[in-house]
Amino acid sequence: MLKRQPLLSSVLLVGGAIALFFWTRPEAVSSPTPPAPPAYGSCPPSRDGIGKTFMGREISHVMGHPGIGWLERTDREKEEAPSKAISLLELAPDAVLADIGAGSGYYSFRIARLLPKGRVVAVDIQPEMLEFLKAEAAKLGVTNVQPHLGAVDDVKLPPASLDAALMVDAYHEFDHPAEMLASLRSALKSKGRIYLLEFRAEDDNVPIKPHHKMTEAQARKEFEAAGFRFVVNKPDLPWQHLLIFEKP
Ligand SMILES: C[S@@+](CC[C@H](N)C(=O)[O-])C[C@H]1O[C@@H](n2cnc3c(N)ncnc32)[C@H](O)[C@@H]1O
Repeated sequence: MLKRQPLLSSVLLVGGAIALFFWTRPEAVSSPTPPAPPAYGSCPPSRDGIGKTFMGREISHVMGHPGIGWLERTDREKEEAPSKAISLLELAPDAVLADIGAGSGYYSFRIARLLPKGRVVAVDIQPEMLEFLKAEAAKLGVTNVQPHLGAVDDVKLPPASLDAALMVDAYHEFDHPAEMLASLRSALKSKGRIYLLEFRAEDDNVPIKPHHKMTEAQARKEFEAAGFRFVVNKPDLPWQHLLIFEKP
């Protein structure tokens, strides 16, 4: 026992020295977390863009409420086949769906008919759009379309309150897409689905300005980075693709 004491002291001394060495050089014991790449960048604003980029694309201008007439145009059915797009959504009759960037509610009112026990939360950031939605709901006697004012960076809906979300020709306008997707992820239930309808950027024959189109690859890059699982691309529509994502 007595003979071991010098050995024990040496071990403690060397151990202490090693500990002190690493304690004063923290980078030697733990590799620092790499800084997250900046989500947003900037570029010279193009005619249809806002000069802010997200994952390699320039975000487009928001369509203002004077565009309601274009959203409600009679030849929309012939050009975009919204009834076919709606038939591709898989919704239970009691589902709660958020139509994010609902605009005039063109899709909200058509989908609400399929949800006799559910409802559509029609989210927009323009109060004028919500006023139009309210007047339309009163005119049509529809009670299961709920106009809802969101913020540019937050859908402002309670956690796990949605079975599904739909975004029609809207996501490419969001000026805080990363924050919007994070808030949507929280608002969706587990296995909740996102139906993303965007004009196909891969197709030069689609007569829409480039900033208002998206490729499947770009959408997947952004939604997968936000933690959503890509399910399928339904490319059966004249101008758009319907991309389906799921909250894991
Ligand atoms: C081109 S309109 C499409 C309207 C509708 N989805 C349709 O297809 O008939 C896009 C809408 O997205 C809305 N919007 C833009 N950014 C938004 C955001 N962060 N949250 C909710 N709505 C937003 C705009 O105010 C506008 O009404």
